[in-house]
Amino acid sequence: MAEIYIDGKGYEVQEGRNLLSTCLSLGFEIPYFCWHPALHSVGSCRLCAVKQFKDENDHSGRIVMSCMTPVSDGMRISIDDQEVREFRRSVIEWLMLNHPHDCPVCDEGGECHLQDMTVLTGHNYRRTHFRKRTYRNQYLGPFLNHEMNRCIQCYRCVRFYKDYAGGKDLDVFGAHHHVYFGRFEDGVLENPFSGNLVEICPTGVFTDKTFKNHYTRKWDLQTAPSLCVHCGVGCNTIAGERCGLLRRVYNRYHGEINGYFLCDRGRFGYEFVNSPLRIRTPIMRTGEKAASRTGSGKMETAGSHILRRIGTMLPKGKTILGIGSPRASLEANFALRTLVGPDRFYSGMSTREHRLVELVLEILTRGPAEAASLSRAENADAVFILGEDILTTAPRLELALRQSVLQKPKSIPVDLDIPLWNANAVRVAIEDERGPLSVATPFSTSLDEVASRIFRGSPEDLARLGFAVARAVDRHAPAVRDPDKEVSALAAAIARGLEDAERPLIVSGTGCGSEAVLQAAANVAWALCRKGKKAAVFLTVPECNSLGVLLLGGKCIEAAFRVSERDKVHGVVVVENDLFRRAEGGRIGSFLRRCGNVLCIDHLQSRTTESADLVLPAATFAEGSGTLIN
Ligand code: FES
Repeated sequence: MAEIYIDGKGYEVQEGRNLLSTCLSLGFEIPYFCWHPALHSVGSCRLCAVKQFKDENDHSGRIVMSCMTPVSDGMRISIDDQEVREFRRSVIEWLMLNHPHDCPVCDEGGECHLQDMTVLTGHNYRRTHFRKRTYRNQYLGPFLNHEMNRCIQCYRCVRFYKDYAGGKDLDVFGAHHHVYFGRFEDGVLENPFSGNLVEICPTGVFTDKTFKNHYTRKWDLQTAPSLCVHCGVGCNTIAGERCGLLRRVYNRYHGEINGYFLCDRGRFGYEFVNSPLRIRTPIMRTGEKAASRTGSGKMETAGSHILRRIGTMLPKGKTILGIGSPRASLEANFALRTLVGPDRFYSGMSTREHRLVELVLEILTRGPAEAASLSRAENADAVFILGEDILTTAPRLELALRQSVLQKPKSIPVDLDIPLWNANAVRVAIEDERGPLSVATPFSTSLDEVASRIFRGSPEDLARLGFAVARAVDRHAPAVRDPDKEVSALAAAIARGLEDAERPLIVSGTGCGSEAVLQAAANVAWALCRKGKKAAVFLTVPECNSLGVLLLGGKCIEAAFRVSERDKVHGVVVVENDLFRRAEGGRIGSFLRRCGNVLCIDHLQSRTTESADLVLPAATFAEGSGTLIN
């Protein structure tokens, strides 16, 4: 710990951090642009100036950038000094020389960091009347709007896009006061995390086009904390609606999961909530073909009619099956389980999927390898991905693993006494050095470009490689029969990388559809644990609540088929599940016919809702509360 003096008052703070983040944590309001807690300091905007004094006798001091100044014991600074306040005000003034005064119509309005900093520094009046510098904007695809005139050259966008997310098609062009942040020509931004530019950009250069398209202002939104439902990672989001329509999804900081960033699927994949295919009213099948909608005009009559219908469909004391869903909340699944009884509750997953998720749960609960959070994954110093195309099955993890390859090389700046928050110096010190990342998948993946070892093979080949790695780590692990020479050499090299690490991580999941791959991944992690390593596993699952529905104890959908073939079944209730995606269509069709009465509760039309006798509308993630297990 260190003691520092801010405007004459002493504070106990952590040594080695930079002054800006320290002061912000203490609650001081120092304006800043280019510093970001995930991207760290580059000192380019010159706004975070404070005055530093040599000792208590120094009354003149010198202006320093707080984001580039390490905290040291006995340090004396002033945030309130008149000269430094004037300096910060003048920085904003020169940034505003070319920034358009378009706040009333700017899409960033209401959340503009530049607006906040302008007010904070006290720059209230424009003194110049020159023509402003202007740029041509680019078409960047359906998600992001580009308005270069608002740029203040803080470099956050390229630092995130290129350095953090590994993007290649956004850069900075030009020189001195004519720098340009964009693509070399118009075109869709290729990086799957490009949506984060909306939040990274402190002004309105990159804004959410999907939001802009609806002419909504941010202060018109009603927002609520929410969760992403597009994969099993469980990123925390904020959903914003206006006039009953979902208008945007924003990142909600969670230190152990998504941190400051979301993937584009999570951010922009929300329009299904507003889809014309939404089921808004109950739909009752009256004849063989026709289905009638009960309109809102006769709510009461319709309501009691439907309740009567449900009563006849689900008679008390008869065999009613309940098919839950890995995309429905715990509460929805639990309500169904309570309605039909635990013995007649099914998870809604196919046999294979059910077994794979069961195995994931078994591996995670049996231990000894810890289940990694996303932040643990980001801090891993050696990673072995077995059988999983992460960008497809758990996209946010891909971004985390891109940071993990920088963990081991961080020893270089540490040895050179460079603080890790000094982003440029760290980047220069590390150069192209990358930590061990081994990718073994059936096809090429986005992480291949930062991987140190790549292996392509069928799921069986991948499993063999995994078992061989486990054996190379610990000779008590099961041996691989007739090992291939090349595979053995690769396994030994991967094992060495993992053994040399302090925080090794094994990533696998259900994506390959292979139990052997999952088991092999677990064996590697367990072998490392037996060798005294603090190994962790990150296992992906197919849907947002795959683990949750399994924990409720349901059986797979095939078990429901067998019951309907064996016993007389009087009805089935399907909650938020399109069964035709779970098994072969013919089998589902005859299962539903055998069940007789089919009651379906969902928010979107599907083949299952088309086959149901009665369909009731369900809330989406943005309209109802619920719990998911990630
Ligand atoms: Fe320190 Fe930009 S935040 S120079």
